[in-house]
Amino acid sequence: MTEADPEELARALSGESIARGDPSGWFERLYSAAEGGEAVVPWDRGAPHPLLVDWAETTRLDGGDRRSLVVGAGLGSDAELIAGLGFRTTAFDISPTAIQMALDRFPQSEVQYAVADLLDPPEEWRRAFDLVVEIITVQALPRSVRAEATAHVRDFVAPGGTLLVISTALGDGDDPNSGPPWPLTRTELEAFAGDELEVRHIDRFPHPDEPQIQRWRAEFTRPA
Ligand SMILES: C[S@@+](CC[C@H](N)C(=O)[O-])C[C@H]1O[C@@H](n2cnc3c(N)ncnc32)[C@H](O)[C@@H]1O
Repeated sequence: MTEADPEELARALSGESIARGDPSGWFERLYSAAEGGEAVVPWDRGAPHPLLVDWAETTRLDGGDRRSLVVGAGLGSDAELIAGLGFRTTAFDISPTAIQMALDRFPQSEVQYAVADLLDPPEEWRRAFDLVVEIITVQALPRSVRAEATAHVRDFVAPGGTLLVISTALGDGDDPNSGPPWPLTRTELEAFAGDELEVRHIDRFPHPDEPQIQRWRAEFTRPA
């Protein structure tokens, strides 16, 4: 397995990690291999997610010094976009190497990058953020921890705040167990609501290059 086959490497690493009962352990191994030039990060776009860019433009998103949190921030492009719009942004990832690579990529960054675990997040992050951005992290975790991961994401949203979720949609006929990733069903997407968080919009978009792949973009809000 080499750079030419990043998804197979991800599958092999994740299989070993999950078998050990550690659904997130393989990410650090993958990022370390990528840093050493032995692998590529399959989800690294080198730019913010296009559905986030579009949402920010159409909603005229303006941080106005409010606080945002980017979940599973990877190499930082989404966090940088949000920080550039005026949010005081925290971005976290379980992989120390990913966080270091983000800091190296954006040396002038105003983002507070942190190593943290979505499945055991800092207590002070509960209901602390006006905007929470979750892009394809929950789908990167197996269904055995999906409810727990979803609940923690929901819990980050402050009163009056917004949660944006972007994810692949599980298609009709797709094998729900052949991950990573494990795309979200509509029911799994709607599960971000609850505990006072309400659905504002759920949209579905075909992938521009592979129209058989559908993607969710969903916005949730917590009443002030
Ligand atoms: C599929 S990648 C997506 C990265 C980024 N959101 C993007 O769209 O480019 C999933 C990310 O979640 C991180 N991750 C996995 N499990 C995590 C956990 N338990 N807590 C925090 N981050 C986690 C991984 O290290 C990885 O960077």
